[in-house]
Amino acid sequence: MSRQYFIAGNWKMHKTRAEAADLAKTLVLQLKDGKHKYLVAPSFTSLETVGAIVKDTNVLLGAQDVAAEEQGAHTGEVSVLQLKDLGVQVVILGHSERRHTYKEDDALINKKVKLALKHGFEVILCVGETLEEREAGQAEVVCESQTLWGLSGVSAIDLAKVTIAYEPVWAIGTGKTASPEDAEAIHAYIRKVIARVYGEESAQKLIIQYGGSVKPDNVAQLMAKENIDGALVGGAALKSDTFVPIAQFS
Ligand code: 13P
Repeated sequence: MSRQYFIAGNWKMHKTRAEAADLAKTLVLQLKDGKHKYLVAPSFTSLETVGAIVKDTNVLLGAQDVAAEEQGAHTGEVSVLQLKDLGVQVVILGHSERRHTYKEDDALINKKVKLALKHGFEVILCVGETLEEREAGQAEVVCESQTLWGLSGVSAIDLAKVTIAYEPVWAIGTGKTASPEDAEAIHAYIRKVIARVYGEESAQKLIIQYGGSVKPDNVAQLMAKENIDGALVGGAALKSDTFVPIAQFS
């Protein structure tokens, strides 16, 4: 089955509104004839600015997280209702920086996944093992558990709005990329897990992105693998010079 490639830029905690606007404008121009699916996820503070630029283009607007509650006394949090109001279409959840630095557990991430889907967002659910877990031979088990927990209670219909991003923690921002073969092995495994729970057809349709030091010079080898259907890009997403060649790989 041929799946559409989905190339996403996670801008993390970078860029003022003016800087974000500059990058968004360049991307909209340079990707307008691009043949893949595209997303940019700026900081909350730049969502409105970037949203106005990408509106009605082929670049989707993403948020990097969302609160687990709809609204209320949650100082510092941002709700699904507020993201919807800004035109956000996709929410990234369970990023390794949320899991490891901010101690988000699978139960919390699952709550966010279900809330975001209930409000009509697409979700990118990130999973991935640490170096210790990989060295202990636990990469598959960790990714399986994060995938199953993250999707617990998600219907087959809602699964169509979910992308899984495999981001090995040891490859994020380190310049170390998983080899295409190692990444492919985990992607294939995740697809098998999804097939077991949701059936083969849903599993074949699922987009599984790879993330972790994706660069213009390694994207094509990664995307050539059967079960790698896109990229979630951090550092190289911060400049059009590096993001555009990734987004236009062929
Ligand atoms: P890098 O591309 O900087 O390794 O970051 C990957 C990532 O965390 C994307 O969400």
